[in-house]
Amino acid sequence: MYIFTIFLPKNLLKVPFTTFMAEKLVLTTGATKEEKYRQLLPQLGALTGGEPDITANMANLAAALHQAFGWWWVGFYRVQDDELVLGPFQGPIACTRIRKGKGVCGTAWAEKRSLLVPDVNAFPGHIACSSLSVAEIVVPVYDAQGEVAAVLDVDSERYDILDETDVHYLEQVAGLLYR
Ligand code: SME
Repeated sequence: MYIFTIFLPKNLLKVPFTTFMAEKLVLTTGATKEEKYRQLLPQLGALTGGEPDITANMANLAAALHQAFGWWWVGFYRVQDDELVLGPFQGPIACTRIRKGKGVCGTAWAEKRSLLVPDVNAFPGHIACSSLSVAEIVVPVYDAQGEVAAVLDVDSERYDILDETDVHYLEQVAGLLYR
């Protein structure tokens, strides 16, 4: 009697998942900021939902937000011991490490709350990774235990585009990572 063993290439098993992944974001031309977020969120949920790797999901979220809103810089800093360490981002090169309680990012982590900074010059201790960035939002990313695992940072070179609507929806985006 012969026993045949069939080895399937690993990638073959992944085909159904990769096949259904959307290749591009669908956003209505001329949509308001709120409409854009409402259209974006389910797509970001689908994009990250089947993928357990946090780095991969952070990378795609940063890319999607950058593509949708065209901000100067958007990305993640991850908590590693007593520091934040630069994670996936879109935009110019940035500071790699931020201490807890320092800058907007380190403060959002220490105080476990989102920070909207309409003018970075008015925020004592702001860390200027780029002199062109003038406004900023930092939102904590919580893990399943409710601890801050990372922060999501958005920087703008314009004073007038980041507001409470962004904070509200960016908190929902951050909530997609540890579900
Ligand atoms: N401005 C941030 C530092 C990070 S960068 O802007 C990318 C801060 O004050 O924490």
